[in-house]
Amino acid sequence: MSVEKTVFGNMPDGREVKKYTISNEEGVSVGIIALGATLNSIEMYDKDDNFADILLGFDTVEDYLKLSDYQGATVGPYANRIGGGAFSIDGIKYDVIKNEKDITCLHSGGELSFALWDSIITDTSSVEFSYESKDGVNGFPGNLKVKVVFSLSEENELRIEYSAVSDKKTVINLTNHAYFNLSGYNGGSVLDNILTINADSYTPVDAFSIPTGEIAAVEGTPFDFRSGKPIGQDIDAENQQLVFTGGFDHNFCITGADGTLRECAHVLDPKSGRILKVATTEPGVQLYAGNFLKGTTGKNGEPMNKRSGFCLETQHFPDSPNKPDFPSTVYESGKKYNSVTVYSFGVSE
Ligand code: GLA
Repeated sequence: MSVEKTVFGNMPDGREVKKYTISNEEGVSVGIIALGATLNSIEMYDKDDNFADILLGFDTVEDYLKLSDYQGATVGPYANRIGGGAFSIDGIKYDVIKNEKDITCLHSGGELSFALWDSIITDTSSVEFSYESKDGVNGFPGNLKVKVVFSLSEENELRIEYSAVSDKKTVINLTNHAYFNLSGYNGGSVLDNILTINADSYTPVDAFSIPTGEIAAVEGTPFDFRSGKPIGQDIDAENQQLVFTGGFDHNFCITGADGTLRECAHVLDPKSGRILKVATTEPGVQLYAGNFLKGTTGKNGEPMNKRSGFCLETQHFPDSPNKPDFPSTVYESGKKYNSVTVYSFGVSE
């Protein structure tokens, strides 16, 4: 294992954006940049031993700052949506940024995703990123110290360990927003990828993509990925949920989630034979099928077209701060938040 440090570019104020590339003996590597503690590249072999970069993203800092739909970024302090852009803790109302149609809060306005993080190589296979979100930024209470450690193993497991602690009682929900295309970032549609999600239920949403509060069974709906099916098979089915979101963009409730690491999803790309497995300590995973990608130019001048990448964002359920029946995302001052997600890569036999 080895970690190489290079300079990816510069922030508008001149600060250097470092890039770290963690590589294993098989030649598999993961590149992470300090802007947004962002996964920038994953070089992985296919069934014929050809390597490709299977992450959507950009080649420059400028593009990440201007064009990004959160490609590969760490997201927080509260990933996903908060309905009405407000929530209350102990009777105190917090109005947070309403960066989506002036109605809802999405990904906390991108604070963590577009900040320059501190970074340090912790050993031959891992890099640690840290950032402090100041009290009141975008309306969120507390000075929140966040750490994200990325590591790669010889078994092609990319492990992401999140920890955070605030000096005020607050809500915390961290994730990574990687868009995968297992055929390569220029690999075309992902709709033929066979996806399995270990979820008996999901959280239906309203017209603003805010969960209604219901935990609905996937049985007999397009949301049943339990035995594996192409992402595209039911994506355009006549279903009000899919109309609201323009395709899958929903949180699935992971069956048996108990805070320990468990596999929640499996994806096979028939073209390349590459496989992705996702395991997490979180209770939920958001399947986002890249419905809003609109051909923006990404790496190497290639367009990122609609549904040319999928996200499996491990997380607590969206809008939990306003949903007392969902697993809680509230942390007392000084109480440590911990979360682990492992993306493992392989090829089919
Ligand atoms: C999340 C949301 C999507 C979309 C993307 C960013 O995954 O659920 O609706 O907003 O972020 O484009």
